[in-house]
Amino acid sequence: MVYPIVAYGSPVLRNPTEEITAEYPNLPKLIADMYETMDHAYGVGLAAPQIGLNIRMFTVGVEAMAEDYPECAGVRFVMINPQITERTGEDVSIEEGCLSIPGVNEKVTRKNRIRISYFNENFEPKDEVFEGYLARVIQHEYDHLEGQLFIDHISPIRKQLIKSKLGNIQKRKITCRYRIK
Ligand code: NI
Repeated sequence: MVYPIVAYGSPVLRNPTEEITAEYPNLPKLIADMYETMDHAYGVGLAAPQIGLNIRMFTVGVEAMAEDYPECAGVRFVMINPQITERTGEDVSIEEGCLSIPGVNEKVTRKNRIRISYFNENFEPKDEVFEGYLARVIQHEYDHLEGQLFIDHISPIRKQLIKSKLGNIQKRKITCRYRIK
């Protein structure tokens, strides 16, 4: 099932999120639906708040990026109850976008390397290091679980320049190739 995606301006994107347990109702179906929703919108990641759920979970699917980032070939996973425990390496600035903020792309500076603990779809605990593009996507999705958006990281001048675009998204005065709410 494809969910509509919650767009900028909705409080659900700013609300605190809660950890879940393996007994969370219909978890396998929810994960499958999140993948389907992400793919339908051609996203590389989708966090639960973006479908209106304030729980600590996100999906990542970066297969389509393999041409530019070979390490992304076939990479697709879900992270449940993630905790970033280290952010190291260089500061890297790359343009980002977000399914909840359609039509806005801005450069965001993030660390190139992260360490993260999480549970996978079978609720097995994991502790892994990611670098490069994957570290970026994970930090972007993780931000969603903290009620943050990529535009929170840009300069006040850049923010001013996209103000009217953000206003239009807030008023839902936009056309979008996927369903938003
Ligand atoms: Ni996003």
